Amino acid sequence: MLRILFLALCGLLTGTRADPGALLRLGMDLMNREVQSAMDESHILEKMAAEAGKKRPGMKPIKGITNLKVKDVQLPVITLSFVPGVGIFQCVSTGMTITGKSFMGGNMEIIVVLNITATNRLLQDEETGLPTFKSEGCEIILVSVKTNLPSNMLPKVVNKFLDSTLHKVLPGLMCPAIDAVLVYVNKKWANLSAPMPVGQVGTVKYVLASTPTTTASYIQVDLSPVVQQEGGETIELPDAREDLEVPENYAEGSSQVELSAAFLTAELTLLQKSFDVKIQDMKIGNMPPQTTKTLAGFIPEVAEAYPKPKPLVMEIKINKPPKVTMKTGKSRLHLHGTIEMLAARRKSKAPVSLFLLEVHFNLKIQYSVHGNRLKMATSLYRLLSLSRESSSIGPFDEQELTGFITNYLQEAYIPVVNDVLQVGLPLPDFLGMNYNQADLNTVENALVLNLKLE
Ligand SMILES: *[C@@H]1O[C@H](CO)[C@@H](O)[C@H](O)[C@H]1NC(C)=O
Ligand SMILES: *[C@@H]1O[C@H](CO)[C@@H](O)[C@H](O)[C@H]1NC(C)=O
Repeated sequence: MLRILFLALCGLLTGTRADPGALLRLGMDLMNREVQSAMDESHILEKMAAEAGKKRPGMKPIKGITNLKVKDVQLPVITLSFVPGVGIFQCVSTGMTITGKSFMGGNMEIIVVLNITATNRLLQDEETGLPTFKSEGCEIILVSVKTNLPSNMLPKVVNKFLDSTLHKVLPGLMCPAIDAVLVYVNKKWANLSAPMPVGQVGTVKYVLASTPTTTASYIQVDLSPVVQQEGGETIELPDAREDLEVPENYAEGSSQVELSAAFLTAELTLLQKSFDVKIQDMKIGNMPPQTTKTLAGFIPEVAEAYPKPKPLVMEIKINKPPKVTMKTGKSRLHLHGTIEMLAARRKSKAPVSLFLLEVHFNLKIQYSVHGNRLKMATSLYRLLSLSRESSSIGPFDEQELTGFITNYLQEAYIPVVNDVLQVGLPLPDFLGMNYNQADLNTVENALVLNLKLE
């Protein structure tokens, strides 16, 4: 019952969120790796040890004990858990040995094991607009205290020592360690909103759509990508209407990046002009170069106008933004435009237009990742419509050309499209993500990259 209520509530909440063009779902695998590597990179252990060894004003001497030293700070063990609606609860378990000389001349040793806990609240930094963690409520919990002092001295001296020293001094000593680790994690978001080039034609940057949210099993960062043409004009994402939601069938703790079809459409709009081409002297398969004679095989009118064969020139212009569609397990690229067939003439003379066709065809898209770029490879799927716009050779039945045009597109045009797509689309650059191991799947209106951490 509670679960149903919870699901219903979640549904309401997600329903009211603005449509993001992309999202990041960060599981515990990623957060653990980030915090662990931040611990390593920040050399926090060495810093803690150095701090601990310093003389501190609050550290009262213990009566009868001299030469107090802190040594052997243990390698901290970090445990993280998600706090829904807040962020991440962090527990750092560590230990240290405190040594000194007792008044009887013996060596004193106190071994303390402690937990430092804090809640790392997840926010959106006002200045940079990037996700940022801020620690709150840092506490020191003593897990165990062991000493080699004679047992009759134990309760009094040790309790006094704990009261005056550990409880007062340790938070100031240990809590900055939590903050220092967060500084490292926070820094790793820095590149997310930096514009990344798409060839020479424009840039993409990933901007937060809202404050990131935390659930019991992941952090979600909704992104509104900004796709900008080289001149500076922004390409609006087509209004997708559908919510972007990562399917729930991924392993607990795993992380995903999801890109909407609308966003990929906007990115390909940057490349629209590059899809316009003029194809000349093109051999298809083992056939000789195409001439007006080839066309005459389908349209007798061509033979009447050109009794002597002339080489063919084909001009393709894409006159609507390319559109990406996605369903579970399949993705298509729709192209709308014109195909003009021209007969070449001798040098320095412009070719003559035979006819102009309006076409709509779609391509099958296969996605892959190379470095931090999403690559697409296409093949012709279907010629969806073909209609005659103009003709200098009189009216004819353009449907007779279906097979010929299909062949021509597949053999001559698709290689051009694939060449243009080689540029790759930049993936979100955050937390030093390496996408090479990612598993790619298309779902309804989106592409999901299931991240595999190396
Ligand atoms: C200290 O932290 C460890 C690891 O998270 C945990 O298992 C243990 O229960 C904690 N001890 C106390 C006293 O909080
Ligand atoms: C940001 O990008 C620059 C240039 O590619 C790179 O050198 C740097 O390491 C990146 N920073 C982070 C935090 O990923």
